Amino acid sequence: MRKQIAAANWKMNLTYQQGEKLLDEILKAGFDLKEHQYALFAVPFPYLLMTRSEVEEEFSSHFAAAAQNCHHKKSGAFTGEVSAEMLHSMNINYCVVGHSERREYNGETNSILAEKVNACLDNFITPVFCCGEPLSIRESGTQNDYVAAQLKESLFHLPAEKISTLIIAYEPIWAIGTGKTASTAQAQEMHQYLRSVLADQYGKEVADLIPILYGGSVKAANAKELFASPDVDGGLVGGASLVAAEFVEIIRALK
Ligand code: 13P
Repeated sequence: MRKQIAAANWKMNLTYQQGEKLLDEILKAGFDLKEHQYALFAVPFPYLLMTRSEVEEEFSSHFAAAAQNCHHKKSGAFTGEVSAEMLHSMNINYCVVGHSERREYNGETNSILAEKVNACLDNFITPVFCCGEPLSIRESGTQNDYVAAQLKESLFHLPAEKISTLIIAYEPIWAIGTGKTASTAQAQEMHQYLRSVLADQYGKEVADLIPILYGGSVKAANAKELFASPDVDGGLVGGASLVAAEFVEIIRALK
């Protein structure tokens, strides 16, 4: 079975102590994860090592720390930035790339994101590549073309053996932090469409390997239904990942 993943995105929330406490509470719940089930914690840069050691101690390869971003250049005079090589040197194996908040507030374009994806892969880091349309695009009914263009412009330069290692997260911007989740049918429809776009370019076998997570107001109450859809392979979770009881249930909702 394709990997099924519950990914927490803490964004710019929690103090270090609050982060430690949250991880402790989540980990002590105990999990009986199947071979194909994983949990990721995308935390602020200064919390990466703490997170890595906490989760690895308990659940080794099924739980991992992830960065929320990295710079697209290898190294140099970019004050305040963090490179993929630095993350790799800290044994961080996952990085969120192209979250809609970074696209909006940090001007990240599809072509910069292509460079970030390359930087990650060059450093043995699995990108969690985010895509998703704003409300105006959804209302105009052109969401499929919009999201397909994000994949094409940032990912389709990759050879099949590289893209097959990626994780994709579909996060409709109108559903992020709004409490307004895409319906299960809307999520499945877009995920199935994205898989068909991947299959057209790389073949069905490759498309079937790539986990596509749904993000946007995922919570304990809706995770099971969303994740039950055949093309929804878990979730990228913001607000509900900051509440231990919520995220524990979201991990348990993986199929
Ligand atoms: P919420 O779960 O708070 O809607 O955030 C989703 C998100 O942006 C995860 O990356």
